[in-house]
Amino acid sequence: MNLLIDNIGELVTNVAGTGEGGPLGIRRKAALLVEDGQVAWLGPARYAPAADRRIDAGGAAVLPGFVDSHAHLVFAGDRAAEFNARMAGERYTGGGIRTTVAATRAADDNTLRGTVGRLRAEALRQGTTTIEIKSGYGLSVVDEARSLRIAAEFTTETTFLGAHVVPAEYADRPDDYVGLVCGPMLRAALPYAKWIDVFCERGAFDADHARAILTVGQAAGLGVRVHANQLGPGPGVRLGVELGAASVDHCTHLDDADIEALASTVTTWVSEPESSTTVATLLPGAEFSTRSPYPDARRLLDAGVTVALATDCNPGSSYTSSMPFCVALAVREMRMTPAEAVWAATAGGARALRRDDIGVLRPGARADLSILDAPSYLHLAYRPGVPLISQVLHNGVPACQ
Ligand code: NIG
Ligand code: FE
Repeated sequence: MNLLIDNIGELVTNVAGTGEGGPLGIRRKAALLVEDGQVAWLGPARYAPAADRRIDAGGAAVLPGFVDSHAHLVFAGDRAAEFNARMAGERYTGGGIRTTVAATRAADDNTLRGTVGRLRAEALRQGTTTIEIKSGYGLSVVDEARSLRIAAEFTTETTFLGAHVVPAEYADRPDDYVGLVCGPMLRAALPYAKWIDVFCERGAFDADHARAILTVGQAAGLGVRVHANQLGPGPGVRLGVELGAASVDHCTHLDDADIEALASTVTTWVSEPESSTTVATLLPGAEFSTRSPYPDARRLLDAGVTVALATDCNPGSSYTSSMPFCVALAVREMRMTPAEAVWAATAGGARALRRDDIGVLRPGARADLSILDAPSYLHLAYRPGVPLISQVLHNGVPACQ
C-alpha cells in the first residue's frame, strides 16, 4: 500500500539547494509519495505517480514533522502554584524539581505511563513526530531506571538525567550522589538510555561533577547532551563542546568564548550520525514560563552556530508540548526569521539528535510530516496560538487527530 499526498501548495523539504528558500528547500505545486513508512518520491504534482491512496492537501503547506529534542515527560503532579507565584514576581531557581521528584517517586508505573502517553499524544497532534524524553525526576537507582523504562515505551530517544539535581537525602554529601549516578544508577539506566545529560548549573552540578558523570556515561556508550547556561553564565557550554556533545541546551547566558566554541564545531560535509557538531538547543518555553530574558538566537546564528528549538516540556519551567508555540516565540522574541525557526524546529532538532532520517523530506527519509491548515510555513509564526496542524503522518501512517 502506498499513499500519495497531492496538491501541496508549498512543500518544505529542508534539502538545501533544491527549490526556493535556501535551507528550507521549498518546492511549490508538489506531490509526495509514501511507501513502507518512507518518502519514496517527491516532485512536481503534474508528474505524480498513481498510488493506492491519495490525500488532497488542497494547496496547503506540508513540512517535516517537528523534532522535539528536549523534553522531560516522566513525572507526576504539576506545579501550577509555583507558576502562579512566579507570575506574581517569584524567581525560578530550579528548587521545585525536588517537589516533582517526591510526586514521581510516589506514583505507580501506570500513572507515569499515562502522563507520558497523554503528553506524547498532545505533541503529536501539534506536529511533533520525534520526541526525546529524559528521566530526572526519580533520582534513585530504581526510580531512574523505571523512568527510562517507561520513556523507552514511547521513544528511542531516551536520556538518562540522574544528575538533574542532588536529591534531598544526599543534600549534605553531593560527592556520594555523583558516585551513585556514575555507578549503580548508570548501570541500571543503560538498558533503556541512548543519551546522558547533566544539569550543569550553580545549585545543581558543577563542571567537575558534570565532567565525571558525562565521561563515564560516554565510556559506557551513551551520547552526551548538557543542560547549560540556563540560569547564569557558567562552564556547561564549553564542557559540552569539549566532550563532543550532540547538543548543549538552554544557552541563555553565553559569552563570546561560548559562541566561538560552538561555532568551531560546525561540520557540514559529513552525514549527521557521524557529525561532530554541537548544536545549541534553545528552549523559549522556559523563558516564557519563568519570565526570564530569552536567549540571543541572532548572535548564535550570525556566528554560524547550528541552532535547534525544543519545548523543554516539564511541569516546572516549561509546561508546553507545542513546537508551533516555540516557533512563534522564537520569531517574536529571539530575532529568528520564520524560516530559521521552522528549520531549527525540524532539521535543527534532527541534528541535535544526530539523525539524518528525520527533519527532512527526501526519498529514503522517514515519512514524518504535517499538513498545515495554511498556505505557508510562515503562518506558524504569523498566526500564533492557532491550531494549524491539520494532519500528521508518522512513519507514513496518518496519526489520529
Ligand atoms: O530544563 N533546568 C533543569 N531542568 C528543567 C526544569 C525542571 C523543573 O523545573 O522541574 C529545565 O528547565
Ligand atoms: Fe530541560
